[in-house]
Amino acid sequence: MAEKIDFFQSDLVKDFNREIDKFHLGPLWNAIPELMHKQPTPSAVPYLWKWETLYAKLMEAQDIFTPDRGGERRAIYLQNPGLKGRQPWGWGSTTQTLYAAVQLLLPGETAPSHRHTQSALRFIMQGDGAYSIVQGERLFMEEGDFLTTPGGLWHGHAHLGDKPMIWMDCLDIPTIYAIGGTFFEGHPDRLEPASVPDRFSPGRYEGGMVRPISDREPKLAPVGSYKWSQTLAALEGMSRFEPDPYDGYAVEFINPSNGRTANANIAAWMHKLPGGFHSQAHRHTSSSIYQVFKGSGHTIIDGIRYDWSQGDFLVIPNWAWHEHVADQDSYLFSVSDSPIMDKFDLQREERYEPNKGNQEITGQFQPLLP
Ligand SMILES: [Fe+2]
Ligand SMILES: [Fe+2]
Repeated sequence: MAEKIDFFQSDLVKDFNREIDKFHLGPLWNAIPELMHKQPTPSAVPYLWKWETLYAKLMEAQDIFTPDRGGERRAIYLQNPGLKGRQPWGWGSTTQTLYAAVQLLLPGETAPSHRHTQSALRFIMQGDGAYSIVQGERLFMEEGDFLTTPGGLWHGHAHLGDKPMIWMDCLDIPTIYAIGGTFFEGHPDRLEPASVPDRFSPGRYEGGMVRPISDREPKLAPVGSYKWSQTLAALEGMSRFEPDPYDGYAVEFINPSNGRTANANIAAWMHKLPGGFHSQAHRHTSSSIYQVFKGSGHTIIDGIRYDWSQGDFLVIPNWAWHEHVADQDSYLFSVSDSPIMDKFDLQREERYEPNKGNQEITGQFQPLLP
């Protein structure tokens, strides 16, 4: 074996590799171990952003970046430290495949309507009185609401309320960048005007329980907005039964016209981890981003403890062992690239067997504070 490795580091091989490189050719014999790992070894690393830091930076940004100055949105994205080397701009990578950001909209402001091939979703963290207008429907946003804007749909935002609005955005920007599939277009009117009455889609679907006769053909986003009150009711209903050993009580947002994920490329979930709950550890090929909507606790990722509380964001990269512990009743919003993994038939999951399914803690993550 040693002889084999030495051979591939020999001058004979190196000289030949250099020779073919001049002709824009590459040596698979050297490349294969690094290009085709035995199992997923993502460059994305586990990471946690504290709410104090995100909030402080959004507040600093509010006077500097106004919608009148262009730039489309006042959004600060969560750059995974392991993916900073991707050019340009780290591809906006929070995980290998997904982008996540916090966005601030102030009273009276509008963020212009545009459409792009990237899929987007939003989770409302703070405030009310603003709306997203998606394909001519105004969707008023309240804390805990989930909104989906699959690729290709017009969307813009306006704020009619009197307090700052902050929400989480998640898009498949790194994936679309990697596969060269970007199209982007501004709306001819700065903000798309409403073309249907407010509460049009939720009224037609009654929270997803029924499907209107005219939607026999599946639609991309038949329900644009999923209200927190209904999500909470679903979780509380489940809480009378045994929790899932890995995810506690969790519901996935779905597209009621086809039964699939609400956003075709990004799965979105709301979890309730009851106080004192300690999950089993597992790992999967899909990566996840968690936003702590309410509560506190910690997550152990590959042996390192990440303490979280309200407003924090946590990244669990592909194939990393993870388990959650809640100090109090906690509500966690999460997104995952499992629909992307499904499309490539790459979905795998493994449970952690040693030590009755819980990892040994070998370190503690130190977050960056403002
Ligand atoms: Fe957008
Ligand atoms: Fe998981």
